[in-house]
Amino acid sequence: MEVVGFRDGFRGLVTDDAVELTWEAVSGVLQVGGTILGTSNRDHIFAIRRGRFQRVEAREDRTAEALRVFQSRGLEGLVVIGGDGTLTVAQHLHEHGIPIVGVPKTIDNDVRGTERTIGFDTARAVATDAVDRLHTTAASHRRVMVLEVMGRDAGWIALHAGLAGGGDVILIPELPHSIEAVCDALRARAERGRRCSIVVAAEGAAAGEPLAREIEERTGMECRATVLGHLQRGGMPTAADRVLATWFGHAATRLAAEGRWGRAVALRGAEVDSLPLADVGGEPRLVPGDHALVAAARAVGTSFGVA
Ligand code: F6P
Repeated sequence: MEVVGFRDGFRGLVTDDAVELTWEAVSGVLQVGGTILGTSNRDHIFAIRRGRFQRVEAREDRTAEALRVFQSRGLEGLVVIGGDGTLTVAQHLHEHGIPIVGVPKTIDNDVRGTERTIGFDTARAVATDAVDRLHTTAASHRRVMVLEVMGRDAGWIALHAGLAGGGDVILIPELPHSIEAVCDALRARAERGRRCSIVVAAEGAAAGEPLAREIEERTGMECRATVLGHLQRGGMPTAADRVLATWFGHAATRLAAEGRWGRAVALRGAEVDSLPLADVGGEPRLVPGDHALVAAARAVGTSFGVA
């Protein structure tokens, strides 16, 4: 196969800005986080609005340009790598005549139909490491430490890092919390003689700083907040993410070779499978309130701050 990559993803597709992806060009990327091509998700925000594929600020439909570039280059298919928004655009382009294979990649782990997305394991590892490091000050100074991690809609990073790091309170957007229930859980720990507590909060559930101030005011316990921010999106990917990326990449290449367009690769159980693009885009995959890991966290004494 001959492969080209579009610089900044959809921006490169509509402006015909491409680079040849030879074996030499991709040599050494295993250890590199992020994307070697770049993305236009944030600075140009190519998205589907009112059923049209457009650069949101410009508001013109760019579907025809994407098709023109695709055809003029004589391409046979397009592999689109990204989260739920990106894969929703991919489905739109597929419906408009571009043969597409989708690959789920986001730190949020919130793409429907797949149990894992590329990037999640690395973010989870960084967030867990942060919880471990916060324990030091928490225990020495008898403090409550709040760690705000990413996850605007879905609480997967907070749930996993909270479990792995032994967080005492985990706050996720899917389980609305009451500040009083959070404080009760922290007071109960102090009454049991615990020197310190760790609260892991997804950004979509609570912002770290105001939450820490509120806890301090209500409980009188000294409280500090750390916002992990983009540290959890960068640096060297974990072994699990590298393996998943190569595994997904191989599966996507096979779908393309077999002409099975309009599908996305997905991890289901212990296997990489594929499913229709329409089943992965759209709404994000949220943490179900009755998820086994929520039950496991509760069983080991973790509070979700639910009243
Ligand atoms: O969707 C991925 C993600 O990392 C979210 O978890 C986070 O809320 C967002 O992107 C951060 O976006 P930005 O870099 O624009 O602040």
